[in-house]
Amino acid sequence: LRAVLALAVGLAIVFVRELLRARLGAEVPFFFTWIAIFCTAWIGGIASAMVVAAVGLAYGQHVLSIHHERLLGPGAMVISALFAIAFALPAEIYHRATRRRKADAERYAELQLRMSKLARLNAMGELVGTLAHELNQPLTAILAYADVVQLQLAQEDVPAETLRELVQKVTKQGNRARDIVARVRASLSGTEVSLERQSLAQMLEEAVELSLASAVRDGVVVKYDLEPHADQVLADRIEIQQVMVNLLRNAAEAMAGARRREVHIKSRVVEGNMLECEVADCGPGIAPEILPNLFQPFATGKAHGMGIGLAVSRTIVEAHGGRIWADSTPGKGASFRFTLNRAEAMAAE
Ligand SMILES: Nc1ncnc2c1ncn2[C@@H]1O[C@H](COP(=O)(O)OP(=O)(O)OP(=O)(O)O)[C@@H](O)[C@H]1O
Ligand SMILES: [Mg+2]
Repeated sequence: LRAVLALAVGLAIVFVRELLRARLGAEVPFFFTWIAIFCTAWIGGIASAMVVAAVGLAYGQHVLSIHHERLLGPGAMVISALFAIAFALPAEIYHRATRRRKADAERYAELQLRMSKLARLNAMGELVGTLAHELNQPLTAILAYADVVQLQLAQEDVPAETLRELVQKVTKQGNRARDIVARVRASLSGTEVSLERQSLAQMLEEAVELSLASAVRDGVVVKYDLEPHADQVLADRIEIQQVMVNLLRNAAEAMAGARRREVHIKSRVVEGNMLECEVADCGPGIAPEILPNLFQPFATGKAHGMGIGLAVSRTIVEAHGGRIWADSTPGKGASFRFTLNRAEAMAAE
């Protein structure tokens, strides 16, 4: 389509000279052609520019011939062709650089996404390893004490004091195991989030860039409908962007293969001091068998999904003092919403 437009513009410029024929006579037969080549190259690239160049040079010769002037010989034609290429060159260089930059950005975004997935997987593996390792000690101790109790019980006349001591030791180890689990849960729920003033719109834009860089190519259209009077929230930028990226990715993945692929991003003030952010798609909606466990780890409806995205998202949002939930209309789409505290609650924004 661009090429057609470029050709139309280029040829129009070439033949503008026709309107000025009476005034110009045989003067500047190629002048408009140079302008046309330059413009065509910017709009449609070098290929359309060369077509315009060929037409323009032929037209110039025609102008010369109807005014009985000497036509360009082969040597002059070659020089003219070189001129044509020179006029098209700046645009071509610029287009190439832009294409390269775009491809680089996409590759970078893909890479980053894959890295964040890997990091999540790594963190989980590490966590499970630590948990197993740390729990092993108290569990072994508990089993050993239980053995001793059993041996003691096999004997007659065991003093109650001895048994009480052993049971106390079991209780102590049991408590230790519970503390370990509690500590891991605390670190999982991200009590260390560092809340700072952030712009919701800016975080969203970056997340869109990160997650949809390649999906945009597949025609996912993003529509924003952001609250104009409230934008500042208290958030850990990286963490909240993880949430956004997963929601956007999920939406794009849900709409893969659909004819209409649109993501609606909305925000609005709720309860005065919270900002609610919504990511809605027009995919098939959430599968009913996933719905009850949607935010549980390992709930996935995808062949290669980990089912971690939403579980992590809920942990992150709740560590921020917000809430995340989903609505789904089968056949119409799914919508996820989460809330964050506003940076200037009640402020007269
Ligand atoms: N927008 C959506 N439309 C339809 N189903 C969805 C949508 N978002 C999530 N789901 C369902 O919820 C499941 C869980 O999503 P979640 O993000 O937690 O994991 P995942 O995308 O499968 O894997 P990953 O851990 O890589 O993100 C998905 O597998 C999918 O079945
Ligand atoms: Mg996901």
